[in-house]
Amino acid sequence: MPPDWNDETRLIRAGTASKPLVRTVGPPIQKGSTVLLPDAASLYDDENHLTYGRQGLAAQFALQAALAELEHARGVTLYPSGLAALSGAVLAVLQAGDEVLVTDAVYKPSRRFCDHMLKRFGVAVRYFDPRQSPQDLIASASAATRLIVMESPGSLSFEMQDMARVAQLARARQILTLADNTWGAGYLYRPLDHGIDLSIQALTKYVGGHSDVFMGSAAANDPKLVRALEDGVTHLGWAVTGEDAYQVLRGLRTLPTRLTRQGESGLAVAAWLREQPGVGQVLHPALPGCPDHDLWARDYSGACGLFSFTLTPGPQRAVNAFLDALKLFGLGFSWGGFESLAIACDPQFATRKFKRDYGGPMIRLHIGLETPADLIADLRQALGVYAARCGGAGA
Ligand SMILES: Cc1ncc(COP(=O)(O)O)c(C=O)c1O
Repeated sequence: MPPDWNDETRLIRAGTASKPLVRTVGPPIQKGSTVLLPDAASLYDDENHLTYGRQGLAAQFALQAALAELEHARGVTLYPSGLAALSGAVLAVLQAGDEVLVTDAVYKPSRRFCDHMLKRFGVAVRYFDPRQSPQDLIASASAATRLIVMESPGSLSFEMQDMARVAQLARARQILTLADNTWGAGYLYRPLDHGIDLSIQALTKYVGGHSDVFMGSAAANDPKLVRALEDGVTHLGWAVTGEDAYQVLRGLRTLPTRLTRQGESGLAVAAWLREQPGVGQVLHPALPGCPDHDLWARDYSGACGLFSFTLTPGPQRAVNAFLDALKLFGLGFSWGGFESLAIACDPQFATRKFKRDYGGPMIRLHIGLETPADLIADLRQALGVYAARCGGAGA
């Protein structure tokens, strides 16, 4: 440091001398809004130079590259939550006057975005029955339909859609397709390999894997769509921190191991539940005999730990008593972490257009990394409480 610099100046510059970083297993977590450019010509040359920290730094780029491997994608953009990934991808490809067809089984906050924001910006939103055939769905598209938003299995009720067939038919009519693939986590199912144009997921769930970070991603292969996603992120000013990117990347390393274990445990618990007298039906596409199992078996390489089941009919206070009796399962909405969770589903069905009678109160379970026998013991005693509150064994 030049000896004639004053103390203030010395402190501003102290410790900033850049030395090459030693190599660690993970990427460095860089913190910076300012990016220092090498020369004046580079200041406005943002085709060749990163000019601003909001565009992402080392950890964000490392995560994007890893997610591109996961999704078999040409490009992946990051968002501060899974919901922001859905809204970001939709905003990137739609404009006023367009129509979007959205599965009625979509994650409820995604529906709120469509109803409360998209419509205000002149985009028509139409919900379709997730049980509708791909042919009927495409036949229902209008000249203004630009995008079909799918989620398979659907939130809470777990209907599978033949997304590959929808994508194939949609493409012939120049309609884009988007899959919210949070259940498949980019590992059990890769939407882009099945011809779907945009694959989004809440990294908050299985990829993060520890219930302590929010993030979302959107992936595409078509260069024009990758560019549209990137422009959308730039124009809307979305950014994720290096710390969060690092944490999600750390989760990604163990994604296959956790998914395998949680998928197996989920199937064991689901199979046990199906035999219990207080249980109506189990909605788990990977369990043989459950609705849409064939479609799951055709396209998926495994299952995660999320599924639903119905209790035999009983009053709400008995459903609450069942949930309150659970000791190992936490009561909470997010999922994809290492811990088991339960929620009641029925209050969320009120906004659905296509109402269904599932035959009894529905419970969604997320199966974590606990020993399945312990989870089953917990469910057994809670089903006993439910039966007692309903006033008879199993009813
Ligand atoms: C299917 C699905 N998509 C998106 C999201 C939104 O993710 P985030 O909570 O990160 O916004 C969720 C959250 O539960 C979800 O279940």
